[in-house]
Amino acid sequence: MESEFNFDVLIIGTGSAGLMNALQLDDKLEVALIAKDKILEGSSYYAQGGISAVLDKSDNFSTHINDTLIAGDQLGNIKAIEFMVHEAPHSISLLEDYGVEFTKKNNHYHLTTEGGHTKRRVAHIADRTGKYVQDGLKDKVLNKSNISIFEDSIAVDLLTKNGVCYGAYILDKKTNKVCTFNAKNTVLATGGASKVYLYTSNPDTSTGDGIAMAFRSGCKVVNMEFTQFHPTCLYHPHAKSFLITEAMRGEGAKLRLPNGDLFMKKYDDREEMAPRDIVARAIDAEMKINGFDHVYLDITFKEKKWIEKRFPTINEKCKSFGIDISKDYIPVVPAAHYTCGGVDTDLDAKTSIKNLYAIGEVAHTGVHGANRMASNSLLECIVFAKSCAIAINKSAIKNQKETFKPWDASRVSASKEMVVVKHLWDEIRRLMWNFVGIVRSDKRLYLAQKRLEQIQIEINDYYSKYLVNNDLIELRNLAETASIIVKSALLRQESRGLHYNEDHIHKNQVLENTEIEK
Ligand code: FAD
Ligand code: SIN
Repeated sequence: MESEFNFDVLIIGTGSAGLMNALQLDDKLEVALIAKDKILEGSSYYAQGGISAVLDKSDNFSTHINDTLIAGDQLGNIKAIEFMVHEAPHSISLLEDYGVEFTKKNNHYHLTTEGGHTKRRVAHIADRTGKYVQDGLKDKVLNKSNISIFEDSIAVDLLTKNGVCYGAYILDKKTNKVCTFNAKNTVLATGGASKVYLYTSNPDTSTGDGIAMAFRSGCKVVNMEFTQFHPTCLYHPHAKSFLITEAMRGEGAKLRLPNGDLFMKKYDDREEMAPRDIVARAIDAEMKINGFDHVYLDITFKEKKWIEKRFPTINEKCKSFGIDISKDYIPVVPAAHYTCGGVDTDLDAKTSIKNLYAIGEVAHTGVHGANRMASNSLLECIVFAKSCAIAINKSAIKNQKETFKPWDASRVSASKEMVVVKHLWDEIRRLMWNFVGIVRSDKRLYLAQKRLEQIQIEINDYYSKYLVNNDLIELRNLAETASIIVKSALLRQESRGLHYNEDHIHKNQVLENTEIEK
């Protein structure tokens, strides 16, 4: 493999944000699409519930905007929300143009609902929306001659000089060689950071790489205290990261204690359909009060045939673990699911570093505020991937190139102590789960901060001595992101949305974003 590449646009990440961005760029631009795993691997592929958009006469833009603001506990940026909601119906058509076929009944979208939505507005494809969206986008991308795809290639760091981005160093995992990717425009589409927690609904790719790389380059990163915990992940010793979609509650499923009692009414009038932060906290409280390992989700009141058609993936997965969801309650627990904060952007996805853009879960566009409403994420990916492409199409060719030294590996050797990397991976994720979880306290946050400082010293020492590899790169990013989350949580001296601190249970009068200095 060559060690230096030149592109007009470098897109790091091939989730729905990255793929849609690539497709919306002018054909005359030479585009590199980078994936640290295979092209389809990422959160997008596993999305179940759907994509929200006003698609029915009974609904309207202002209701979608208002529901998003309420779910976000009023911290959302109204301009960004308005922009996204108005673009939503067009985003659905755009996906259809790329061959995605949403579930329909009598020629109308079958719209479902999830927590926080006061109208049925979630378009979906059974319970495998992400797979069909990604398959559709991938097919189109593979047919574009201006797009070069690099799988098994992990970005290590951005190339920046004087507040301008010129590409990134990328490790080719097959040859173990770090290459220089020079680019006139760089787009971060690296997804979220939920892997910093021990239990997560996310695939292995969500290690916060884009957030950490941007932060190290001095880019503005905000509101990282808002990690969303999804209320219902399958609880089973052999089920790794399997989600039970909120759309199941949208179709009437109930949360129950082991003795069959319902409990959501105690916590919120909207019961099972309250926004996610409230439902996850309620489950967490019941588990802690009663010493339960999990609670249950009950869809047994629906016909078996109906369940098989509406939730085929969940039905099959549960069956593989001996759970017949038409008869048995499903054991569920909350798990880290979504990163609401991230690299701060404007409506064109521009970051605080020139020629660096961020789209999808890595970005903070402001639409989610303190808690993302269900099915607003894929929507955000599509809307801002497009606005980003429009901005790049206007300026891409004019941007200048800058020369960077090739990656220097002459003073490092192959690691003989990967056990250290493995240990620190586990330690960070357990620390975050125990001390920086659904309910926080100042004491636990300070303890986490102190240990993370030490861990970062240990990692930097290791990083300076040994050749980089995938696990070391991710570990460094995991530690960086965890540290930003903890520092942001300490800065937010209130309880709002997903950030609940028992030492500051009230809300501040003034709405502010948290930003950590590098
Ligand atoms: P991802 O799809 O996560 O893609 C990230 C990409 O970046 C991958 O290609 C990865 O390989 C690459 N990458 C990361 N770091 C590097 C690096 N250092 N170098 C190179 N490549 C890198 N949202 C909804 O709106 N509706 C839903 O129904 C829904 N269901 C969900 C179900 C599950 C199980 C999960 C986990 C999430 C769900 N979400 C849903 C959230 C939504 O899927 C994600 O927020 C969204 O897909 C993120 O898309 P993305 O393109 O930003 O990132
Ligand atoms: C789900 O299907 O419950 C996930 C939806 C989302 O994260 O928006």
